[in-house]
Amino acid sequence: MDLGIKGKKAIVNGGSAGMGRGASRALAIEGVELFVSARSEERLNQACEEIARDTGANVTPIVADHSTPEGREKILGVCPEPDILVTNCSPPAFTGDYKTVGKEDWLANLEVTLLSPVEFMKTVVPGMAERGWGRVVNIGTGAAKFPAEVRILSGPPRAALVNYSVAVAKAVAQNNVMINNVLPGMHHTASIADRYTRAAAANGTTYEQEVQKFIDDWRIPANRFGDADHFGDFVAMFCSEQAAFVTGQSLVIDGGQTNATF
Ligand SMILES: NC(=O)c1ccc[n+]([C@@H]2O[C@H](COP(=O)([O-])OP(=O)(O)OC[C@H]3O[C@@H](n4cnc5c(N)ncnc54)[C@H](OP(=O)(O)O)[C@@H]3O)[C@@H](O)[C@H]2O)c1
Repeated sequence: MDLGIKGKKAIVNGGSAGMGRGASRALAIEGVELFVSARSEERLNQACEEIARDTGANVTPIVADHSTPEGREKILGVCPEPDILVTNCSPPAFTGDYKTVGKEDWLANLEVTLLSPVEFMKTVVPGMAERGWGRVVNIGTGAAKFPAEVRILSGPPRAALVNYSVAVAKAVAQNNVMINNVLPGMHHTASIADRYTRAAAANGTTYEQEVQKFIDDWRIPANRFGDADHFGDFVAMFCSEQAAFVTGQSLVIDGGQTNATF
């Protein structure tokens, strides 16, 4: 299916690995011109080169921390008028007892998970509305909708981000600017590889065994973790021409881990 977005310009923040990379790749396949940010230069350049080589798209890497004003200025200096914005970061630290999470943890985390996407939307959505076309997709977390003590630094800021983005979505829907959220469950990504490789080394197990333990403990019906490129395809779908009547939605992609009637 042609998503009708060839030639559009997209900023993908946090696009060098995991689901951000999956989103970049899916948009590149559609002929979108990409501006991809991340902090680690080597991994970013490699990801952008691979995506450009595989898809033929123009892909510009921007080494920047999107959670800082300087980083945001740098990204928007290279691409001041994006048609598409995808916001993403690394998963916040897993937490234990809620009583051990301090104010400093909250403040540092809010900068990257909530305030950065809010600042980006505030800056680029008015231009999208003026031009009469725009798409924003926030990559959040299933924990925004289904809270868990281990994810209290991840779920609450993204629940706030969903709330904010739905409010903005209603304000600009008449201008053909559609804002949606995609909320992942467990996927094979760089951060997950790191987490479960370390767990395997500490426990004398393998990566696969640690992943299966999580699947069993949290009862994931699909009996596996998701694929970051498949996840990216759903992000691209929300950026499509066909998404022109879809806004303020939050799609959970988690292999059935969480369940509700709707
Ligand atoms: N993976 C899962 O199973 C899972 C489950 C539930 C929710 N999620 C959510 O999905 C999102 C993506 O997770 P992931 O596992 O794909 O992450 P990941 O593998 O760590 O990739 C994150 C990407 O964001 C970049 N990044 C992080 N902080 C940044 C910053 N301040 N400025 C610019 N770039 C930044 C990273 O590059 P640099 O480090 O070089 O900056 C990397 O490209 C997160 O919001 C996470 O909470 C993931």
